[in-house]
Amino acid sequence: MDSITFINEIIRCIGSKVKQQITFAQYMDTVLYHPSHGYYSTEAASIGKEGDFFTSVHLGADFGEMLAIQFVQMWDILGKPAPFTLVEIGAGQGYLAVDILNYLQQHHTDLFTVLKYTIVEKSPLLKQVQQQKLRNYPVYWCNLEEIENNSVVGCIFSNELVDALPVHQFVVEAGQLKEVYVGISSSVQSGDQDRFVEIIDEPSTPKLLQYFDLIEIDISSYPTGYRSEINLAAQDWLTQVSDKLQLGYIITIDYGYPAYRYYNPRRSQGTLQCYYQHRRHSNPYIYVGKQDITTHVDFTALERWGETCGLVKVGFTKQSLFLMALGLGERIAALSDSNLSVSDILRRRDSLHQLLDPMGLGDFGVLIQSKKLTSTQAVQPLKGLTIPI
Ligand SMILES: C[S@@+](CC[C@H](N)C(=O)[O-])C[C@H]1O[C@@H](n2cnc3c(N)ncnc32)[C@H](O)[C@@H]1O
Repeated sequence: MDSITFINEIIRCIGSKVKQQITFAQYMDTVLYHPSHGYYSTEAASIGKEGDFFTSVHLGADFGEMLAIQFVQMWDILGKPAPFTLVEIGAGQGYLAVDILNYLQQHHTDLFTVLKYTIVEKSPLLKQVQQQKLRNYPVYWCNLEEIENNSVVGCIFSNELVDALPVHQFVVEAGQLKEVYVGISSSVQSGDQDRFVEIIDEPSTPKLLQYFDLIEIDISSYPTGYRSEINLAAQDWLTQVSDKLQLGYIITIDYGYPAYRYYNPRRSQGTLQCYYQHRRHSNPYIYVGKQDITTHVDFTALERWGETCGLVKVGFTKQSLFLMALGLGERIAALSDSNLSVSDILRRRDSLHQLLDPMGLGDFGVLIQSKKLTSTQAVQPLKGLTIPI
C-alpha cells in the first residue's frame, strides 16, 4: 500500500467517528504501528547509521556488554536464581540482545546456563529481523500479556522504547487543558500535507488532568497557547511490566527530563520530533508511515507511577555516568595499548565517546526501579549507579 492509500485509510477511520476526529495518540499509534503500513512495520528494519536514526546499540557491542555486567551483579544480589529472566521490550533489530547474550556466554557461563531471555516486540517486521539475527541463541518471543503476572525473577529492560509510545497532545486555553485531535481537512487536495487538520476539544479522558496531579504541576497557571504531550501509554506499560515482575529490577533507558524540566513553561511547544532520513522536523502529518515520531520521556511520571504500582526507585542517573561506573572508561583507556590499527582505534574511540557525549547519548536518563527486594538485597548498591571516581 502506498502512502496515499494509507492516508485514505486513516481518513476513512476518522470519518467513521461520531465527531470525525481521533486523538493525536490514536493517530500516532496508527502511523507508527499499523500492522502492515505503520513506520515500525515497514521502514524500521533499516534504523541504524544509514537509516532515519540510530541508537546506542548501533555503536558497537560495548553498550550491551556494560548492561550485561549490570545484569550479572543483579543476578548475584538476587541470590543467583535459576532461571534468571531478562525481558527486553522493544528490541529493534536485535543488536542489544546479541551483545548481551554473546558477552554472558563468553564471560559468565554460570549465568548464561540459567538465563531465560525473552523479547517483547510490537512490530512484526522487527520481530522477524530479531529472529533471524538471534537464530543461534536461546531466546523466546511473546506478547507482554502472555507473560504470567508475578512470574519474572530478574530484570525487565528497554532502550529507547518509551520515547516511541504514542502520546496525547494538549494545549492550554485560558487556564484549561484542552486536547489536540486529528480531523480531516475540508480542502482535500492531493499532497500529504493537506489531508489532516488539528482540532482542539475537551480532553478524551480525565487521566490527562490526573497526570498533572501525579507530577505535581499546576497546568492551570500556564499561558494560553502552551502545548505539550502526555504519555499515558507509558503509564499503562509500566503498570503491565510491574505486574509481571515477581522479584527484581526494571531498567528504562531513554532521552527525557524530570517533569519540572519537561513542562518548563519556556518549552512551550513540547518535545515531539519526527525523523525522516536523518532529518529532524516537527510535522507528524507528512511522510505518513514513512517517518519516525518520538517524544522525550517524563522520568518523574515513571518514578511516581511506579510507586503506585509497587515499584521502588533504586536510582536515576545519566547514561554517561552509568556506563562509566560499569567500566567504559577503562575500555577507552585500554584502547591505546590494544593491537588495533590506528584508524580502528580512532573509530572505536569515537563510538565510545558518542555513548558518553553529554550533548547526545550520554545525556540519556537511566531509571532503575525494583520490586519486592528484601532489605538485605535493597541495600546493595548497584554498580551502574555508583559514582565513578
Ligand atoms: C526506537 S526503537 C528502539 C529499538 C532498540 N531498543 C534500540 O535501542 O535500537 C523502539 C522499539 O520499540 C518497539 N515497540 C514500540 N512499542 C512497543 C510495545 N508497546 N511493546 C513492544 N515493543 C514496542 C518498536 O517496534 C521498536 O522495536
